[in-house]
Amino acid sequence: MGIIPTDKEQEVRNIDVIISKGDANGDITYANPIFLKLAGYQLDELLEQPHSIIRHPDMPKIIFKALWDSLKAGNDVHTFVKNLSKDGSFYWVYAFVRVATNPDGSFRNYVSTRKTMSTKAREIIEPLYAKLIEAQNSVIDESLVVLEEFLASQGASLETFNDAMIKLQNA
Ligand SMILES: Cc1cc2nc3c(=O)[nH]c(=O)nc-3n(C[C@H](O)[C@H](O)[C@H](O)COP(=O)(O)O)c2cc1C
Repeated sequence: MGIIPTDKEQEVRNIDVIISKGDANGDITYANPIFLKLAGYQLDELLEQPHSIIRHPDMPKIIFKALWDSLKAGNDVHTFVKNLSKDGSFYWVYAFVRVATNPDGSFRNYVSTRKTMSTKAREIIEPLYAKLIEAQNSVIDESLVVLEEFLASQGASLETFNDAMIKLQNA
């Protein structure tokens, strides 16, 4: 959008639990006060807007593709996200996105619960995402290969993506 990213980082504290909910398209249906504070928006500016309103250009496409592939298959996701605030600043989170269902089992909404990202995970993930962006921008998008190689180096694969992320967060 029209936001110019800056180097200003916002702190996500240990006590912060940043929550939002989305409909089947990922459009925002709810955001809690700490989400609004960090993102720098009023709730009415966010409702019915896509979650990509806080997408940071440093986020590789393949991470969101993996997110949506899992969600569409009905699976929860653990993943690291760098988000963009309205004022151009950024904040990193460790997100848990789950598919909520109604009592009859039908789709209800998506719920993302984000917490502070561990220092150890940041040390690994930030350079990985930079590499994924570079691979994504080469003549032939090689980000899938780079991601698979990284996961293999962690003893994981795309199928065990969540386990690898949980392990990084708790390392
Ligand atoms: C519940 C939920 C929460 C999401 N939270 C974020 C988020 O915090 N930041 C973000 O960039 N994308 C988030 N997404 C993913 C976006 O829907 C979108 O796929 C992503 O921003 C990439 O934008 P694009 O698909 O338009 O390229 C979330 C999706 C869902 C379903």
